[in-house]
Amino acid sequence: MNSEQVLATEQQLLSPGISEESQLAGVVFAKGQGSYLFDLEGRQYLDFASGIFTQNLGHNHPEVVAQVKQQLDELWNVHDASTPARARACQALSRHLPEPLTRVAFFTTGAEAVEAAIRAVFSSAPPEKQRLAALRYGFHGKTQGARSLVHWDIGYSNQSGNSVLGYAANCYRCPLERSYPSCDMQCAKLVNKHISSKGNIAALFFEPVQGAGGVIVPPPEYWSMIAEVCRENGILLVADEVISAGGRTGPFLACQHYGIEPDLVMGAKGLSSGFPFSVLAGREELMAQGAFAGAGSASSTYGGNPMSCTAAAATLEVLENEQVLAGIEEKSLRLENGLRTLAAEHSAIGDVRGLGLLWAIEFVSCRKQKTPDADAARAFYRQCLQAGVRTCLGGNIVRIGPPLNISDADIDAALVIFDACLAKAEA
Ligand SMILES: Cc1ncc(COP(=O)(O)O)c(C=O)c1O
Repeated sequence: MNSEQVLATEQQLLSPGISEESQLAGVVFAKGQGSYLFDLEGRQYLDFASGIFTQNLGHNHPEVVAQVKQQLDELWNVHDASTPARARACQALSRHLPEPLTRVAFFTTGAEAVEAAIRAVFSSAPPEKQRLAALRYGFHGKTQGARSLVHWDIGYSNQSGNSVLGYAANCYRCPLERSYPSCDMQCAKLVNKHISSKGNIAALFFEPVQGAGGVIVPPPEYWSMIAEVCRENGILLVADEVISAGGRTGPFLACQHYGIEPDLVMGAKGLSSGFPFSVLAGREELMAQGAFAGAGSASSTYGGNPMSCTAAAATLEVLENEQVLAGIEEKSLRLENGLRTLAAEHSAIGDVRGLGLLWAIEFVSCRKQKTPDADAARAFYRQCLQAGVRTCLGGNIVRIGPPLNISDADIDAALVIFDACLAKAEA
């Protein structure tokens, strides 16, 4: 099949509810290598979305390929029985996770790990604490439990539950119309007021840096202020690091950037080079005692399968051996400087923000009014793709997340293309 035939076949047979960016792309990818993707006709693209923030080592890292190929010859699935691959994944994660997180359970998707976290929370929650808290514009997945923590339109009818909501620290669009730092962190104070006054909240589920909501990076003190009140009120801190675990924002976990210690953490995308793998990591008392320790409560058909565990163990080993995390700060600065220069030169950009190698460009039609401009974001995304850089589109925001081992030359090359595409949009 050529690209035209692939697109026509999918147009006819595939449910059209794929992401907006894939609907708009009209590209058929055939191969990946390092930071590059190649379409069926052999055209080359820099992947500045890293799959979907999955390819932290780029595509087809040779060490991961070698280990996965070997596992392919040995064993694929034996339910949740013990395997060397799973033990290696446990060890690899325990080398990176903060000390209090002594136990891990393996699943296949981010949402599946979030569901497991909800089970773990309610397994130990006292009878009076039967509600969960979450933040506005947080994203935790599309299964029913995870969806109950998501209170914004994610493309289909609203099935959000009765979780208690707090304000994220969206400084560009402050919901309280304040400015940092004179705001005195009113958003964090309001979260604290909500969650401490109710008395019935078992846990706060949060992304340390909101991803799908538009890369919302809170000021340094935001999470420590909230963590303190959670501790005082016996509210568990459940960090959804499905995007950030594995170094996407710099440290292995984004929580480490903020100096807070969660009770439970979910990780997925960047941990296994694109293989279906997710993890719930947690404190001993939550994971190994009480109902969550009961037979079967942390097992699923594909959870911890040897292929995914091998991919995860290999990915984490490469992260260590090639000292990938040590290089992120410098690359982040290079990308940030480039994006800020673009923002200074192009009025279509209302804001750029990010941490580590997770960035967002927010498009507006009027800088003063901050009027969201989804058309401009869409046009930028399409033009970049045509010019050979793949990014991640959502509403009026384009997210930028190259592989963590991206070269300086490839960062510079992408920035040149971004500049040209912005200029074209303004012409
Ligand atoms: C923070 C966060 N949590 C959970 C999920 C859900 O993960 P999945 O799509 O693998 O179910 C996502 C997906 O993007 C996510 O970004």
